Amino acid sequence: MKTGILRGSVLIAATFVLAACGQKEVSYQADVQPILKQYCLECHTEGGKGTEKSGLVMSNYESLMKGTRFGSIVKPGDSLSSVLIMLVEGRADPSLKMPHGKESIPKDKIEVLKKWVEQGAKNN
Ligand code: HEC
Repeated sequence: MKTGILRGSVLIAATFVLAACGQKEVSYQADVQPILKQYCLECHTEGGKGTEKSGLVMSNYESLMKGTRFGSIVKPGDSLSSVLIMLVEGRADPSLKMPHGKESIPKDKIEVLKKWVEQGAKNN
């Protein structure tokens, strides 16, 4: 009986490891940037109203990682406390939900952003 339970947990653990390995790596260039371009850049490049208010420019990796004038919005490996993810998921104050004053971005795109952060927010 005892060994049965043990074998069961080993199996479950192995399944998790396999699932994690099977995850495709998200690419900043191919996956993340097109989403930001479609949903965020209209306000978050030089002269845009999002940039004007927050200082956040999202047109390239360096400025995205620099964040707002208050600090970074991407915490590599930690999507839960990354402001970028909080805002697109609507976990912060509604007035700060992004895209500002618009429909949320689709769930599958939020997942892509989350995965990218979880995988280390690399410039890949
Ligand atoms: C229609 C314009 C608009 C769009 C589109 C937009 N934003 Fe914003 N964004 C703003 C404005 C305006 C602010 C400043 C909000 C404030 O401080 O009241 C802001 C602020 C921010 C901030 C800083 C919040 C803080 O900590 O003060 C982040 C992060 C952000 N936006 C991310 C995004 C992301 C990610 C997208 C795309 C999914 C996006 N925004 C799309 C207008 C926009």
